Amino acid sequence: MVEKGVEIKAPEGKLGVLTPGMGAVATTFIAGVLSIRKGHGKPIGSLTQMGTIRLGKRTENRSPKIKDFVPLAELDDLVFGGWDIFEDNAYDAALKAGVLDKDDINVVKDELQQIKPMPAVFDPEYVKKLNGSYVKQGKNKMDLAEQLRDDIRNFIKEHQLSRAVMVWCGSTEVYLQPDEVHTSIEKFEKAMLENHPAIAPSMLYAYAAIKEGIPYANGAPNLTVDIPALQQLARELNVPIAGKDFKTGQTFMKTLLAPGLKARLLGLHGWFSTNILGNRDGEVLDDPMSFKSKEVSKLGVLEYILQPDLYPDLYSNIYHKVRINYYPPRGDNKEGWDNIDIFGWLGYPMQIKIDFLCRDSILAAPIVLDLALFLDLAQRSGMYGIQEWLSFYFKSPMVAPNLYPEHDIFIQLMKLKNTLRHLRGEELITHLGLEYYD
Ligand SMILES: NC(=O)c1ccc[n+]([C@@H]2O[C@H](COP(=O)([O-])OP(=O)(O)OC[C@H]3O[C@@H](n4cnc5c(N)ncnc54)[C@H](O)[C@@H]3O)[C@@H](O)[C@H]2O)c1
Repeated sequence: MVEKGVEIKAPEGKLGVLTPGMGAVATTFIAGVLSIRKGHGKPIGSLTQMGTIRLGKRTENRSPKIKDFVPLAELDDLVFGGWDIFEDNAYDAALKAGVLDKDDINVVKDELQQIKPMPAVFDPEYVKKLNGSYVKQGKNKMDLAEQLRDDIRNFIKEHQLSRAVMVWCGSTEVYLQPDEVHTSIEKFEKAMLENHPAIAPSMLYAYAAIKEGIPYANGAPNLTVDIPALQQLARELNVPIAGKDFKTGQTFMKTLLAPGLKARLLGLHGWFSTNILGNRDGEVLDDPMSFKSKEVSKLGVLEYILQPDLYPDLYSNIYHKVRINYYPPRGDNKEGWDNIDIFGWLGYPMQIKIDFLCRDSILAAPIVLDLALFLDLAQRSGMYGIQEWLSFYFKSPMVAPNLYPEHDIFIQLMKLKNTLRHLRGEELITHLGLEYYD
């Protein structure tokens, strides 16, 4: 059945992309977009820029580029801003992050030098390994959130933006459990005034964004918008939100492989994953409390994909371990090893070994771009609350209460593309091959 499609406001004017945190991921994303705009390099890894979408029957041969199919903001219309606890402009921060070569950064040196972070809302209680002096002071957490709202309004005014989105690219905070003060926006706001410890800095950015009507994506495993209070606020104010934890590196590999093993009904005894990385993210994750946030986000994946309750003979007894080791010489160029113990016919054991020499921020940058553009599209299309169709980008996808998250990357991609088809009133594609029955 062909649907009517949804009325989508045109992406007129400039779109601000605000990142709390201007470290490796944020600067690789910004420098990359600026370079691509100048014709230096291609947006590899970005679905919004390079992806296509099949429409109608296979015989119709209709596969436009996604960016020609849905009205997305143009790269030329993006304006970058953000906050950090260090005062370095985006050029100096990109050099320090050491992801891109100096020659590549120098191509966009002037533009990067113009991008200066705003002072952060930060508390070392939530990121134990960091301390910086470029931080806001306020009489309580509500006051700090109000200062962030002022920053957003000023940024929009100064750059004459028509809209903005926020993508968290800040550090991983310590593991926080859901708390009573997270259960409603009324309790949450009261807790902000009382400086309650269950309100982390990342939540203040998210609160400020949603109050300003700005979509928010959570690139870290922080609890942030994964709480009823901020989800309620997002629904009430018609703001799209998404999260959490960019799906790059090792978890990306896991969500490629695990659905394949399950599809062929191959069993799994154990999956041991370990990493070495030496960037600031690695240093922050060296703290057990920040690592705990990451661990929880990484561990859920297998359980959800393999469904041990449905396949007890294959997956009810899996030993799954994830380790991250801070190893400075490696910088941003992480190495991730997986040892996977599987079993086949009559229970005979086999092993798979992966050694992924990846570049974390190179994998994360296109995700930041896609999330910014898709969240803006969602807002112009009247979508609000949790954007489950963006699960494709996250290690630990947020879902409505009582639903389980979808981790299988191919189902996630189908859901994403079907959402785009739905927006444009095109037939949804189930890959059922119904033409055989015609
Ligand atoms: N690179 C990847 O593949 C990947 C994948 C998944 C998640 N992530 C997450 O993305 C985030 C960014 O990663 P990165 O490699 O750029 O780390 P990074 O350490 O290079 O950058 C993070 C920046 O955030 C700043 N910061 C910390 N707390 C802040 C606050 N409250 N307000 C403003 N700024 C703050 C830090 O000073 C730092 O400059 C991390 O949480 C990381 O876990 C990265």
